[in-house]
Parts: sequence; structure tokens; C-alpha cells
Amino acid sequence: SRPIPKEKGLDHTLALLEEGYQFIPERRSELQSDIFQTRILGQKAICIAGEEAAALFYDEQLFTRKGAAPKHVQKTLFGENAIQTLDGEEHKQRKRMFLSMMTPGRLDELASITRRQWQEKVPEWEQRDEIVLLHEAEEIMCRIACEWAGVPVTEPEVKQRAIDFGLMIDTFAAVGSRYREGKRARTRSEKWIEKIIKQIRAKKLHPPENTAAYIIAWHRELNGKLLSDRMAAIELINILRPIVAIGRFVTFGALALHDYPKAREKVKEDEKNYSQMFVQEVRRFYPFGPFTGARVREDFEWRGYPFKKGTLVILDIYGTNHHPDLWENPDAFQPERFEDWKESPFSFIPQGGGDHYMGHRCAGEWVTVLVMKESLEFLTRDIAYEVPEQDLTYDMGRIPAVPASRFVMNNVRAASR
Ligand code: HEM
Repeated sequence: SRPIPKEKGLDHTLALLEEGYQFIPERRSELQSDIFQTRILGQKAICIAGEEAAALFYDEQLFTRKGAAPKHVQKTLFGENAIQTLDGEEHKQRKRMFLSMMTPGRLDELASITRRQWQEKVPEWEQRDEIVLLHEAEEIMCRIACEWAGVPVTEPEVKQRAIDFGLMIDTFAAVGSRYREGKRARTRSEKWIEKIIKQIRAKKLHPPENTAAYIIAWHRELNGKLLSDRMAAIELINILRPIVAIGRFVTFGALALHDYPKAREKVKEDEKNYSQMFVQEVRRFYPFGPFTGARVREDFEWRGYPFKKGTLVILDIYGTNHHPDLWENPDAFQPERFEDWKESPFSFIPQGGGDHYMGHRCAGEWVTVLVMKESLEFLTRDIAYEVPEQDLTYDMGRIPAVPASRFVMNNVRAASR
């Protein structure tokens, strides 16, 4: 075997926290290699990027998720011992539960809920001097998520619930107060949703049978048992929180509409399914999910490089979506690139790669694309607005990245049709 190119130094956690999305790409270009070894969080880690690397990473025979997600990520973003940490049959059983919520009929319902929830906000915005899109989008996504998932949420509480989901999303790679706030937000949310699960199980609350709340409350594990109240709450939050996270992509989408006025016109007209391509390019181009991790199951070699049992392996999501071998002008925003794109489950991986059923690829990919499409079509067709002077740059060192101003809009009004 040959040695994996190695970064010198005792630990690079601080560099990772500073460089964010650029940590892996920078080192790949410095070492001239799509695979390198570093040390983060006090342990050895192998970082990999590219289509073949992604195909390797999603080979279940070679990798396990056990012990891959750091505890601090589980205490904020994922929830402890949730689907992200499961392997084998146990994982597949849980994954089937998630994917059973994504039927065509339920996705149609989601589209109409999404349109209505945006529409309902317009009269209020018309009365306001300005609105901050990220905050509005997170609140709207929270309403959409709860309605679609069969979770009752009262008008006085919806804003705080949305803020709490937003705080959890904001903790990926956060330390200090941002981490502590996210942890408190998770505690509050788990308490709320655990109560909902208990009410469903006590037959005091009756969400429709095809909703996430019902499906998770009555889901049986391989041993025939229901999930614990807490585990069920954690998994229901694994539906609600990421739907709120779509608000981030919608905000980046609004930024793209603003920066590329010609593309904006095409989204509005939606000729030849342009909105779909635009949404795909937003998911490829803008920084959101940075990377994902797994551990080596048993020793193996790949391209002559040794992978030792237990080693943490990190797949560069952002870097693969911008890899020069896979994308022409990777750093240009060009929705047209998806026009005759040769689909591959391993080159376009904003929400993970591989197969949705067999592996850990995101269960909410169809939901994300659909909600983004409806939301961006709403922004181009149903309202008119201005974008005042503001700082729209986003810091690539901050995970998750977000435009500094959170996208301020003013003079919002219903569009004349
Ligand atoms: C997993 C990204 C939205 C539910 C993942 C993974 C990524 C991801 C990177 C992990 C892939 C891996 O480790 O191999 C995103 C992004 C989203 C999004 C960027 C944009 C907002 C959603 C939505 C839902 C959802 C809307 C639910 C409705 C899940 C679940 C998993 C997951 C349940 C765990 C899958 C498993 O472990 O098998 N997502 N996601 N996500 N996502 Fe998403």
C-alpha cells in the first residue's frame, strides 16, 4: 500500500472552524490530492472528495455510522441515537418509515400547503416597511412542516418554534454560545414533541394516518416494539427541523434571483422546466451541507491507500458539488448545466449520495426540491419587492453559511397579474 498524503500538525479542529466549507478543498488543492489525512477533534481523519470517493463512502460493507457523528452534533442537530447513527437492517427499517411519508399524494399536498402558507403572509408584509426573508421563510417553513406532518402548533407559539428549529440548524460546527443556544432549543423542542407523541399514543390526538406524526408514533422496530416516546420525538423532529432548514436554501435562492435577473425571468416563465434546473443549481452552488462522516468497518485498501478499521472518514459534500472534474466552471451559477445532465448518484450530493432506501442519503430530497420550487415561483410570480442596499455576502468560514443581512426585502406587495 502507499501512504495517504498527510497534513502536518497535532490538531486542525480550529482551522476547520475558521475555514468551514474551504477546509477540505484548500487542503486538496495544496496536497494535489482528493484524499488526505488530517487530525480533527483529537483523532485521525481521512478526508475524501469526488464521484468515486462518494461511491466508496456509500458502500455499506466498508463503512459504519456507529460512533461517526460526534456527540455534540447529536445533542443539537440530529438528536441522540437517531437514524443518522444506525446501520444495517435496523437502519433500513427506520429508513422505510421515513420514506413511507413521501408518497406522490402527500407531496402534492405539500405543494398546495406551501403555496397557501406563503400567500397568507402577503397582507401582513404589505403593511410592513421591510421584511427579513430568512426569518419569514423559517417561520413559513415551520407552519408548512407542522401542518404537513400532522403536528398541531398554536399561533402564539409558532414563531418561537421556528426560532428554535433555526437555532438547532445553526449549530452544525458551532462552539460557545451558538452551541449552547442550539442545545437549549433542542431540549425545548423535544419536550414539546414528546408531549405530542404521548397524546397520540393516548388517543387524545388523532393526526391523519398518512402523516409523519401518526407514522412515527405507531412505527414498530424490527423487534416489534414501538419507539420510546423520546426516540419518536427525536425522529419527528428529524422531519420538522430539516423542513425549516429549506428556508436557508430559499434565502440563497432569493439571492440567486437577485444576482441573476435573466435567470429570474426564466423561473417566472418556467419554460422547459427551468425552475427545476434553477433549484438544482441553487442546491449545488450555495454552501449548506458541508460534509458527512462514517467510520471504517474493517481494514481495506482503496487505490492502494490503507483504510484502517475505526478511522473516521469525511466526505466533502460542498467540494464534490464544486469538483472541477465533474462540473464545468464549477464556481459559476448556471442552471442550464442541468439541461442534459447525466444523472449520477455520486457527483451531485448536496443531500448525500447513493440510494435513498439502501443508504443514508437524505430522506427529504424530494420534499426539499418541491418546496424550493413552489417558494421560488411564489417569489417571482405572486409578489413584487425591492432589495435595498445591504450586505449580501456570506462567510464561507461559517457553517452553515448564510447571507450576512439574511436578505432584506422592502416595498413588498401582491403582484398584479
Ligand atoms: C440526511 C442534507 C432536507 C430528512 C441528510 C444528509 C444530508 C442532508 C447531507 C446525510 C447524508 C449522509 O450522511 O450520508 C439536507 C439538506 C437539506 C435537507 C441540505 C435542505 C434543507 C431534509 C428534509 C428532510 C430531511 C426536508 C425531511 C423531510 C433527512 C433524514 C436524514 C437526512 C431523515 C437521515 C437519513 C439516513 O440517515 O438514512 N440530509 N437535508 N432532510 N435528511 Fe436531509
